Amino acid sequence: MIEQLKKIQTEATHEISAVEDLGSLEDLRVKYLGRSGLLSQLIKQIGSLPADEKPLIGKLTNETKGLLEALWQEKLAQLKQKAAEQGDEKIDLTLPAYSFFVGHKHPITQIMEEACSIFTRLGFSIAEGPEVESDYYNFQALNFPKEHPARDMHDSFYISDDVLLRTHTSPVQVRIMEKSRPPIRIIAPGKVYRRDADITHSPMFHQIEGLLVDTSSSFSDLKGILTVFVHQMFDPQTKLRFRTSFFPFTEPSAEVDISCVMCRGKGCRVCSNSGWLEILGAGMVDPEVFKAVGYDPEKYMGFAFGMGVERITMLKYGINDIRLFYENDLRFLRQF
Ligand code: DAH
Repeated sequence: MIEQLKKIQTEATHEISAVEDLGSLEDLRVKYLGRSGLLSQLIKQIGSLPADEKPLIGKLTNETKGLLEALWQEKLAQLKQKAAEQGDEKIDLTLPAYSFFVGHKHPITQIMEEACSIFTRLGFSIAEGPEVESDYYNFQALNFPKEHPARDMHDSFYISDDVLLRTHTSPVQVRIMEKSRPPIRIIAPGKVYRRDADITHSPMFHQIEGLLVDTSSSFSDLKGILTVFVHQMFDPQTKLRFRTSFFPFTEPSAEVDISCVMCRGKGCRVCSNSGWLEILGAGMVDPEVFKAVGYDPEKYMGFAFGMGVERITMLKYGINDIRLFYENDLRFLRQF
């Protein structure tokens, strides 16, 4: 048995030293040190040896096992280090690279930026106001007295009796006029809030407000500015129609329709067969608003307009459900 042990030790030492890869090293562990490996087989035979031989053989077998295990561990460490050192050289440069998903701006942001860029090219600058607004700026200064029925159209989210989430971007008009003097030419993009939710209404949506005040500005200037805007945002063939309307802060007031972008005015489901789509409200600034900000209504004239960004985006891209904008479904968003 001592001969057998010596033979195993010599062969194993030789083989372990010669091995070059981790797979073969594992094979050698199984062959010599594994549960049914050569050493284990030998150990099993110790039981049947004469009693006086057992201690010596047992001791020698344990020594051999310890020796081979140490040798094996040492080789394992060597091969692992070698693999790590060679790691870089193993990169296969011919493999195709990972492709990264490149994101982009949300369609509402895109249209908002496009609208802002059209108006800034026309000489407007961008203004902002708070989303949490006082009743005074959201309503009173815009000539909606308390209890005025026009407030009903703005299903408001009140925070307290006098504080609410702004229902439109028009309060920015008042804030800008209060702290500057004409000439004024601003647009105010931003979020607004109303208690309303269905396929064309969302409790939060976006508006763009426009305001121009000077010593001479007319309804025809307003028509000109809005015509340029519509022609650039949609296409130069789009027709505009100004319909008489009412807003407390403009007089006269108008609602502006464009010829249907789907059927070009022939009549279809989108325009309810009328050939027209309403896209914004506008008018000449009411003298009451000028009085609220301390402007002399005899000296200054101005016009204002306000539009819903979701509505314009839906018309431009033929989207029929406003909720798609807020679900963040990449299958929808990736189309823009
Ligand atoms: N603020 C109005 C709304 O949310 C829209 C609007 C209409 C704004 C006429 C204006 C305007 O500036 O002149 O319904």
